[in-house]
Amino acid sequence: MRENVLLIGGGGREHAIARALEDSEADLYACAGNRNPGIAEIATDFETLETTNPKAVVDYAEDVGATIAVIGPESPLEAGVADELEAAGVYAFGPKEEDARIETDKAFQRRFMEENDVPGCPDFETFDDMDAACDFIDDYDGDLAIKPAGLTGGKGVKVIGDQVTAEEGKEYIRESDYDRIVLEERLVGEEFTIQAFVANGAFETSPAVQDHKRAYEGDEGPNTGGMGSYSDATDELPFMTEEDYDEAVSIIEATVDALEDYRGILYGQFMLTSEGPKVVEFNARFGDPEAMNTLPVLETDFLDVLTAARDGEAPPGLDFASQATVCKYAVPEGYPTDPEAGAKVQVDEDSAGDALLFYASVDERDDGIYTTTSRAFALVGVADSIEEAEKIAEDALEVAGDEGLHVRHDIGKPDLVQQRIDHVNEIRGE
Ligand code: AMP
Ligand code: GLY
Repeated sequence: MRENVLLIGGGGREHAIARALEDSEADLYACAGNRNPGIAEIATDFETLETTNPKAVVDYAEDVGATIAVIGPESPLEAGVADELEAAGVYAFGPKEEDARIETDKAFQRRFMEENDVPGCPDFETFDDMDAACDFIDDYDGDLAIKPAGLTGGKGVKVIGDQVTAEEGKEYIRESDYDRIVLEERLVGEEFTIQAFVANGAFETSPAVQDHKRAYEGDEGPNTGGMGSYSDATDELPFMTEEDYDEAVSIIEATVDALEDYRGILYGQFMLTSEGPKVVEFNARFGDPEAMNTLPVLETDFLDVLTAARDGEAPPGLDFASQATVCKYAVPEGYPTDPEAGAKVQVDEDSAGDALLFYASVDERDDGIYTTTSRAFALVGVADSIEEAEKIAEDALEVAGDEGLHVRHDIGKPDLVQQRIDHVNEIRGE
């Protein structure tokens, strides 16, 4: 049977999901708050709507006769869109509101790990009294990460000893109006992500990816939603061993076992520390940008994952091409603190050369495509090595031009990859 798949969300990650379904036995329908031109081109129909309004999504799903839905971003998950779709008889590949708390409530996430003995949990305390949190910082022997419990688009965490001093951290807590925060042991090491495809108590994992959160080259500047990312031709990244990868997968396994009816993507963000991988956070969806590394090399039909999940089966074994990927986002100048919208996007799929172009938060007008205040588009190189993939992404960025745009050119370059390897060797005392 040909499926009618509803895709929810309009970023680069969702453009990658749309591409992954382009050649499947499915008609794609899409809805998002912004009209993403890349998704609109692939989809049979595209509706602009508020994706955190479950009724609006369900109405559209019913109008188009959706047989399966895929939810890209976290905000519809938090709003209970998966629950409402299911109530309307449409299977959603994405966790229900309660299970999505693994991402949407960081205090819940840490308590969940503790109560279920999931390995890799840093020491933490949760606070709803901000004075008590500041006292805890004063008394704690070591550096702490300050994390608002709710969603902040990846931009709310402040790490003492890295981005801020203890005094600045306390000022941040006092000046923000968060109701609940988590203070946790600062983890030192290299970060990586593993995304697991989860359904019916079983899961399959994908190759590790490293994102770059900081806005500027050399890991300087404020945290962003992610400026770009790379993956290698194997499951591991150049600074990891197979054992590190397997240990992270065993943390995912313990988490999936403890979550009873989880379905969708479980994204594990890990810090490779001197004691092995520890959990920085879980997300209840594909990463953005990480989906743009993972889905282009997925050789298994993504539709088979969706239908297996819906039909009560384990996800099929996943095949990934043995290729490296490098993804670089072009963002508006000033992003994320003071972004300037309105630059004309000069690149299209034809001019991107060998790179894959994914549109994100852009605005399609009669005379062209323009940037908004968030990440605009990404270029992804896929090749036998990280070095070659990086060059493909850079060649395409040259065509795109840099007027009004900012790119972290260092992502995926041999120097930066070597720094990651040296860093891990250093913390391991090698
Ligand atoms: P999150 O919103 O939880 O992804 O956090 C954003 C970023 O803050 C992470 O990607 C890390 O770079 C950093 N971070 C979060 N928790 C910790 C921690 N316990 N130790 C060190 N860095 C952290
Ligand atoms: N790349 C980080 C995230 O999707 O949350």
